[in-house]
Amino acid sequence: MAEAPKKSGEKTGKTSGSESIPAGGNAAALDPAAFRNALGQFPTGVAVVTATHDGYPIGMTANSFSSVSLAPPLVSWSVAKSSPNHDPFVATEAFAVHFLGADHRDLALRFGSRGADKFAGLAHAPGDTGAPLIEGLAPIFECRAWARYPGGDHTILVGEVVRMVERNHEPLLFHSGQLRRIDALRRAPPLSSDSFARNYLAYLLARASFNVSNEFHARLGEWKLSVPEWRVLACLMDVEGLSVGELAAMALMKQPRLTKVLDRMERDGLLQRRATAGDRRRVTLHLTAEGRARAAPVLAAAKAHEAELLKQFTDAERATIKHALDLLIDRTRTR
Ligand SMILES: Cc1cc2nc3c(=O)[nH]c(=O)nc-3n(C[C@H](O)[C@H](O)[C@H](O)COP(=O)(O)O)c2cc1C
Repeated sequence: MAEAPKKSGEKTGKTSGSESIPAGGNAAALDPAAFRNALGQFPTGVAVVTATHDGYPIGMTANSFSSVSLAPPLVSWSVAKSSPNHDPFVATEAFAVHFLGADHRDLALRFGSRGADKFAGLAHAPGDTGAPLIEGLAPIFECRAWARYPGGDHTILVGEVVRMVERNHEPLLFHSGQLRRIDALRRAPPLSSDSFARNYLAYLLARASFNVSNEFHARLGEWKLSVPEWRVLACLMDVEGLSVGELAAMALMKQPRLTKVLDRMERDGLLQRRATAGDRRRVTLHLTAEGRARAAPVLAAAKAHEAELLKQFTDAERATIKHALDLLIDRTRTR
């Protein structure tokens, strides 16, 4: 449809005037990255908004949802003009807002990714307004389009809630550019951007490493492996015949701890020590067939875990992170 239903007092063409008021009188000077970062300090919930376009379901993740009015019951959200779904959402007569729960991180990422077949394998059915309702999600607000306002590079869509599905739940949150649970937010220390802990490289690396590996390390028990054993298996999977010294550097372990781990793994039939033909003092390490069989599913799970973690970054961000880490490792290598 072309026009929002007009209500008394509804702002129409004049609304574009308000968006031209520069923030602090000097909007042009506002650094976009700093602005985005500052906005990220306001935690929001996360929703998936759906509608029907040309008979097909459309949907996107949105954290711009807001309550607007109690009587009539109005809510709003903003859709980016850059989205291929902008025009369909602006034109639609009805949309449905699904609040995501703490366990719906995958849905937030799926509906927040351009080009993905967002509804693939997802059970959904038209609600009262015709907008698709995703099975298993609640709370849901089924809305009829009430008004549309220009909002810079977004269009603000206001909907009148005609039906809702209620549920109290633990919500998924968006804060500081990250999807979080409430308990994680509570743990996030309130550090200012110039604090020592937010800038000291060793601390940043330790925290990043903890965030990346902690969840996966907690799962190693499923394969009856300890963290040191997993490190040894992972290092030996791709490289045949490492020396103990080479392995120590790769597996981040010092002696005598490494020898104890290797002894245990050899006893369990996961690896073999072999003397080198020319130099019997040089011992190399080799995974046994059993060691490889134990490592294979863990390696696959580690890769899947990594892919899940990296989904929240753009290609450019992934390349930047990897480049910075490569550079750091390369230039700080101890000779
Ligand atoms: C947590 C989160 C919140 C988002 N909020 C909005 C939003 O409020 N409005 C918007 O237009 N895009 C928002 N996005 C981005 C869209 O979900 C994303 O651009 C998605 O690719 C849109 O699908 P499309 O490109 O197929 O239209 C958000 C993404 C995430 C991950």
